[in-house]
Amino acid sequence: MNNQTILVLDFGGQYKELIARRIRECNVYSLIKPGNMPVEEIKAMAPIGIIFTGGPNSVYEKDSPRCNPELFSLGIPILGICYGLQLMCYTLKGEVKPAARREYGTIDVTVDTTSPLFQGLDSKQPTLMSHTDQVVSLPEGFISIAHSANCPNAAISDTKRKLYGVQFHPEVEHTKNGTQILRNFVYHVCGASGDYTMDDFIETQIKEIRQKVGNNRILLGLSGGVDSSVCAALLSKAVPGQLFCVFVDHGLMRKNEGDEVEAAFADRDLHFIRVNAEDLFLSKLAGVTDPEAKRKIIGAEFISVFEKEAKKLTNIKYLAQGTIYPDVIESGANNSANIKSHHNVGGLPERMDFQGIIEPLRGLFKDEVRVLGHRLGLPKALVDRQPFPGPGLAIRIIGEITKEKLDILRDADAIFREELEKAQYKAHQYFAVLTNVRSVGVMGDGRTYDYTLALRAIHTSDFMTCTFAEIPYEILGKVSSRIVNEVPHINRVVYDITGKPPATVEWL
Ligand code: XMP
Repeated sequence: MNNQTILVLDFGGQYKELIARRIRECNVYSLIKPGNMPVEEIKAMAPIGIIFTGGPNSVYEKDSPRCNPELFSLGIPILGICYGLQLMCYTLKGEVKPAARREYGTIDVTVDTTSPLFQGLDSKQPTLMSHTDQVVSLPEGFISIAHSANCPNAAISDTKRKLYGVQFHPEVEHTKNGTQILRNFVYHVCGASGDYTMDDFIETQIKEIRQKVGNNRILLGLSGGVDSSVCAALLSKAVPGQLFCVFVDHGLMRKNEGDEVEAAFADRDLHFIRVNAEDLFLSKLAGVTDPEAKRKIIGAEFISVFEKEAKKLTNIKYLAQGTIYPDVIESGANNSANIKSHHNVGGLPERMDFQGIIEPLRGLFKDEVRVLGHRLGLPKALVDRQPFPGPGLAIRIIGEITKEKLDILRDADAIFREELEKAQYKAHQYFAVLTNVRSVGVMGDGRTYDYTLALRAIHTSDFMTCTFAEIPYEILGKVSSRIVNEVPHINRVVYDITGKPPATVEWL
């Protein structure tokens, strides 16, 4: 693969993957490397441009990450973001100081629209700022090309040397035209031709997978969800015949789901193994009510089933998973807080019988995985499926999990999904949750004392945040009436009207 490359040098910024993703969106290949990557290696790579990420440090701290001054005389365009901008100024003998007032949040910036960086934009731009330090005097050759009320150097440039810096974060959605600013950098400053597509991603991954796996075999945990299905399609293209997909039916699937998954993979170029492990999982989960304990138990049982299956086959060296970037972030990687342990990240036990893990989708976001799935020729119904968490209905039952509760939830959930689909109501994810609350009702002439079911439907772009879906009452009314009439032991239905934050998508 000989695509033009934008090199993202990481100085500890929490949004580095988002920067790389935005560059990919512009059809340009990008690669993240540590901020201290040797200059010789950078020269050999010959990127068309370099982006310095942000980072939590102050350039004046003794141990804060530095960059080699030689970088600025290679003739390669550089864009510094937040700490990256400050580092560029500090290294080139400008001055950085704590600002009189810390700027945090969406801040309006006035930009110089004659700069290539802001070409095609209005002069007022909402941006996300998050900084304590700021540039107070510019290095030789630089001018200010944007300012906010509190920050005179919100963006700077030295057009001769093609060096640019922005104090705000163009990679996040709060900066409304951030992608356009990055696009301007890669096209108008670095001269990109836009030669990178998802097919190139496939090609690079296939090469890397083949190199790593050699003649060995891979065992993939396949849930039938979008991520693991796309991962299966990619791996079966890379090492056909060497891929064994284990689908663990843990008894926590939705109605008829186990059979549907099996049918979807029956005719593919891979070895499909279904393990019916309902009794095992339900016995391990018996009496467990704590959400994290449920997640850890399920994570551990998945691995133990995979290990058992691997032993039955020969030469299985690798475990593959369809982990994607938001799973990694939410499970507390990169010093972010552990909100909940996704079963395939924080839920993995320390020791495993595999030589290594293969996660080709680890740097991708959900919508990119869907594009990839389409490119790999997976059926639309599979690729466009709403996400279903690995721990399944275990994290949609509050309190103890029993077979009876699972059956109640399965039936109610199927009705909700069926009615939304019949009404052609679109939401990114929708499901039912069986609460632990029982309440009094009346049915026929008799008293009931039964469960309350909660319905949840959300809109989101990346599942990191969401809003609740404003489903018309008419549809909700029909769903509620069908559920209480058709599903025994539910006598009350409520609708969850909370966003994330402060709630999360799943209840557990
Ligand atoms: P939360 O509840 O964290 O959900 O706001 C965000 C998205 O992630 C899904 N989710 C999971 N997916 N394993 C998964 O594969 C998990 O352990 C897990 N927990 C949550 C959730 O369904 C939503 O789409």
